Amino acid sequence: MSPTNPRTLPYGMAAIAEAAALIRAGECVAIPTETVYGLAADATDSRAVAGIYAAKGRPSFNPLIVHVPSLAAAERIAVFDDRARDLAMRFWPGPLTLVLPVRPDAGIASLVTAGLDTIAIRVPRHRAMQALLAATGKPLAAPSANASGGISPTRAEHVVRSLAGRIPLVIDDGATPAGVESTIVMGERILRPGPLGAEDLGLAIAVPDGRITAPGQLDSHYAPSKPVRLNAAEAKDGEYLIGFGAIAGAETLSAGGDLTEAAANLFDALHRADASGARAIAVAPIPESGIGVAINDRLRRAAH
Ligand code: TXA
Ligand code: MG
Repeated sequence: MSPTNPRTLPYGMAAIAEAAALIRAGECVAIPTETVYGLAADATDSRAVAGIYAAKGRPSFNPLIVHVPSLAAAERIAVFDDRARDLAMRFWPGPLTLVLPVRPDAGIASLVTAGLDTIAIRVPRHRAMQALLAATGKPLAAPSANASGGISPTRAEHVVRSLAGRIPLVIDDGATPAGVESTIVMGERILRPGPLGAEDLGLAIAVPDGRITAPGQLDSHYAPSKPVRLNAAEAKDGEYLIGFGAIAGAETLSAGGDLTEAAANLFDALHRADASGARAIAVAPIPESGIGVAINDRLRRAAH
């Protein structure tokens, strides 16, 4: 592969020390979370945050999620009401992002919030991201570690393929367990479906009303380089069929019809389908329940 590839280091103390040194020097580093690989930089350093937008080719009106080690650290950056604190205590560390008023004196670079008076914040569970937070002592802004609009990365090699030549380091700690991005909650509404479903949270999913509620929830996203057809019962000519349950394909998200397993395999399957020789991608129907809601959300955007 080309010499401009980022270095990939297996997770461990040496890798975290190297990543922390890069973060302190204002660079960004790709690191796994329990959802997807993130591209992390010091959220208090506007030049470092600008580096995230540059590496991803991300529009600067699309704000980033800030990762912190604990609820106490989050309360120093955002203003919690009782409902938010209750959700945080129940689901952090974990794949839940809360959108809350930002404390203007917290030192978060305005590029992180894209100038909004709210901030998206979460406490991740993954050991690698937690270790990097501890080693840097900084809040870390981290969007998914893919070029803007592309398929989210659930493996280090996905990051390398998407961001080669644009970042210095990827920490490899294997496949991410959940496989889809965190559930985003604002007030009583879910802005982005994720691993925690509406039933888990006791909240309703925001009804799209023409406005973009989470600025990053653009219709077209997670887009492979070839057409995607949904609810496919079989492969038509030249299609790479991604199966589920009784529908077998070139591969399956879960032969047993398990939605958690399907979410964990989703982006990896899309990456493989995209890299295959097939003309187009077809995906079997996925039940619209639990994490299936998040899977279908990502698939609709991939197909848009
Ligand atoms: O699981 C995840 O959330 C991953 C890992 C790395 O933590 N991160 C992630 O970040 O998915 P990203 O940048 O790909 O998605 C962030 C989403 C975008 O849709 C963005 O518009 C939304 O969060 N967002 C950020 N700040 C917001 C705010 N103040 N109000 C509403 N939505 C916001
Ligand atoms: Mg993303």
